[in-house]
Amino acid sequence: MANNNNRPTYIGMREMDEITSNRAGIPALLAQLYSDHTQLLELLTALDHYLDRFQDCQSGAENLELLLAGLDYINTYPEKWHHPSESLLLEKLRERTTEKDIVDESLLAHNALVDQGKMCWQLFNSVANGCIVGRDQLVGCTRTFISEYRSHINQETAELFPHLLMVFGPDDWQEVERITPEISSALNKLMKQDYEQTREYVVSGMKREAAAENP
Ligand SMILES: [Fe+2]
Ligand SMILES: [Fe+2]
Repeated sequence: MANNNNRPTYIGMREMDEITSNRAGIPALLAQLYSDHTQLLELLTALDHYLDRFQDCQSGAENLELLLAGLDYINTYPEKWHHPSESLLLEKLRERTTEKDIVDESLLAHNALVDQGKMCWQLFNSVANGCIVGRDQLVGCTRTFISEYRSHINQETAELFPHLLMVFGPDDWQEVERITPEISSALNKLMKQDYEQTREYVVSGMKREAAAENP
């Protein structure tokens, strides 16, 4: 990925997809982060789908349950099993790159998305508990959250990850993988499995509804 003038070489999602699917030269940690992004994007598509139902006033308790489960997943899984690794990579990158904007942009987005995601979940939880919340306000803030989450993932995939590949050598990757928080306790593993099942439940619900509409 290095080039002659020492400037970052950005590659698009399709190229990244090809590189990752080949697994050629991609460090295991980065391959995992890229795979997380693919799954998070699918989850965001499912959230948009359930939000469409909610907006059209066609939805019932199950749709609300799926929205809450999807928001819980997107608020919890990345914070516990994705962002900690990215934070380590970003801090190390900050010491090594002149492209500080790439680092700052990701870190700022992590903080902002946590706050936005919590607010969306709380509003939907209020609805589930019988409180009256303006539908437009609820849909509007959740659409903004989904859109900004997608932008963040796309920015990292198209800019941050290629930049990491350009700046870090094999020793850097080994060092980061050594100190990446190891999610090894039995409790954490069980919790991670629970969240993976939640993602499956939310995404498969969308696919089932789409199949029923277009048999
Ligand atoms: Fe991120
Ligand atoms: Fe990420």
